[in-house]
Amino acid sequence: MKLALIGLGSVGRGVAHVVKNDPRFKIVAAADSKSGAVNPDGLDIDRLLQGKKETGRIGTPDWTAFRIAAEVDYDVLVEVTPTNAETGEPALSTIKIALSRGRHVVTSNKGPISLYYRELESLAEENGVALRFEGTVAGAVPIINGIRNGLAGNKVKALFGVLNGTCNYILSRMEEEGLTYVQALAEARDLGYAEADPTYDVNGTDAAIKLVILANTVLGMNVTLKDVQRTGIDRLTPEAIRMAQSTGQTIRLIASLYPEKKDLEVSPRLLPEDDPLVLSETLNAVTVETEYAGDVTFIGRGAGSVETASAILSDLLYIHDKYGF
Ligand code: HSE
Repeated sequence: MKLALIGLGSVGRGVAHVVKNDPRFKIVAAADSKSGAVNPDGLDIDRLLQGKKETGRIGTPDWTAFRIAAEVDYDVLVEVTPTNAETGEPALSTIKIALSRGRHVVTSNKGPISLYYRELESLAEENGVALRFEGTVAGAVPIINGIRNGLAGNKVKALFGVLNGTCNYILSRMEEEGLTYVQALAEARDLGYAEADPTYDVNGTDAAIKLVILANTVLGMNVTLKDVQRTGIDRLTPEAIRMAQSTGQTIRLIASLYPEKKDLEVSPRLLPEDDPLVLSETLNAVTVETEYAGDVTFIGRGAGSVETASAILSDLLYIHDKYGF
């Protein structure tokens, strides 16, 4: 299966790592924000990444993401550039070009899916191809497929959880190691967990976007970011954390959704220290309250390079098997 890999940041490098020795895949094109490279016989991705370290570019400026999407012969466009929560661009246009050409798309980009899911899904259907986006919510945790397929037929009464790895990392490092907010955020950025603009993480926008994606893609709702009441952790003081600890509690950024009431919220909440949603580092957790299955909780790594690539790999293999590659 021929892949065009758009985006070579943390997630893109993870994707390159998980597919490069798999005989089912061949990366025939790759682009970062400044340049691109194309080889119908398959690119030597390690060499390209080494070149990027040395020169800051992976190829030539004339191979832009748009040009690759429009001209190269690939089967699946893997779009893993940073999220633009306002317009979804440039990923939105790249994805539309691919779908319009009858090419499958796998993305971890939250912008296009949170803003234009229905339009993109229709475009995919019209062109007889798949649009897959497991990596947009909770990284490696298979929450979209878990609800869609694993819990198929169940009415979801409520859903709540920890959907931002960066905030969870910051809160748990402040609590367990006594780091300051600034130190913990710097660590999260160094480890590649935070968004290109970490404001989105710490002010609750990233978790709210993920809630919108879950609402619209697996819960049949039609909501936007404006429908989510949002409070971040950016104004949380070490004193507030210490105070919570002194009463056997802790603080986590919790996203909650009640479909029937159309009630969507992201806010820091006090939880008992032994609550299942009190997790360390970048772990995410989602509890889904269902009609027949009762409560089902998914826990796993919500951010990171190969972790997010794991979700992308599962989408690629779905396409590989379903479309008979
Ligand atoms: N910045 C996001 C997080 C990455 O920290 O959860 C995964 O979407």
